[in-house]
Amino acid sequence: MIELRDVYLNYGSREILKGVSLKVEDNCIKAILGPSGVGKSTIIKLMLGLIRPTHGEVFIDGIEISKMSEVDLFPIRQKMGIVFQGNALFDSMTISENLSFFLRENLKLSEPEIQQRIQDQIEFAGLEGYENALPENLSGGMKKRVAVGRALIFNPSMVLFDEPTAGLDPVSSKRILELITRLQRDNGLGAVIVTHIIDDVFAVANNVAVLYQGKIIFDDKPGNLQLSNHPFISSFMSSDEVEL
Ligand SMILES: Nc1ncnc2c1ncn2[C@@H]1O[C@H](COP(=O)(O)OP(=O)(O)OP(=O)(O)O)[C@@H](O)[C@H]1O
Ligand SMILES: [Mg+2]
Repeated sequence: MIELRDVYLNYGSREILKGVSLKVEDNCIKAILGPSGVGKSTIIKLMLGLIRPTHGEVFIDGIEISKMSEVDLFPIRQKMGIVFQGNALFDSMTISENLSFFLRENLKLSEPEIQQRIQDQIEFAGLEGYENALPENLSGGMKKRVAVGRALIFNPSMVLFDEPTAGLDPVSSKRILELITRLQRDNGLGAVIVTHIIDDVFAVANNVAVLYQGKIIFDDKPGNLQLSNHPFISSFMSSDEVEL
């Protein structure tokens, strides 16, 4: 469903991605693992058409999006929910308002339909009783679950998670990873998870691409990471550190 084909991305004179090719199949959970600053969030932005490659192509469901106008991109973006690295919640809006804001802005649904979708996400994310709370009154894990609910409210077929567990305590991390697994198992959704935390990969991913110095140095099942003889992969597989 999502494919990057020989993508190069420069910010000014800095080359961030140097010929990245990867595929994310429908209903598959694909992790993109890499150290801080390697270009993981950049890959998510490319997949959404928020930035355009310096060279190369980005396909969503077989359609090349990198030269599309914003108007043409809109229906394509609707197929993909996004959970941003910092959640990007609106501080002055309640949880229900945060969940429904983009829905109200972009789709002409009746009020009962909107309320039903809000309720579905409140239940899915386990946020019952917090409908009228403000984000500042929620824990980090709960805020992340609101961000997940907001990504799901358009009924996407794929959800992109930028560092879904970064900064969360182990219990909250586990809960977010369980939500991601449930999305695939119960709702048949696919997901892209960019992360620098290898435990996330082993917990949920069917497939993992490792991004290092602008290139994909591994793209296979997580269980095969042990077999890689790339020095970067060997070094973090043999260390006790779980974060890159
Ligand atoms: N708009 C921009 N203009 C210039 N440089 C940028 C821009 N966005 C990101 N960068 C730089 O490009 C590199 C890759 O950024 P990116 O945010 O994709 O990395 P990342 O892997 O997501 O990092 P992190 O682990 O910190 O989230 C970083 O060095 C970053 O400072
Ligand atoms: Mg990032």
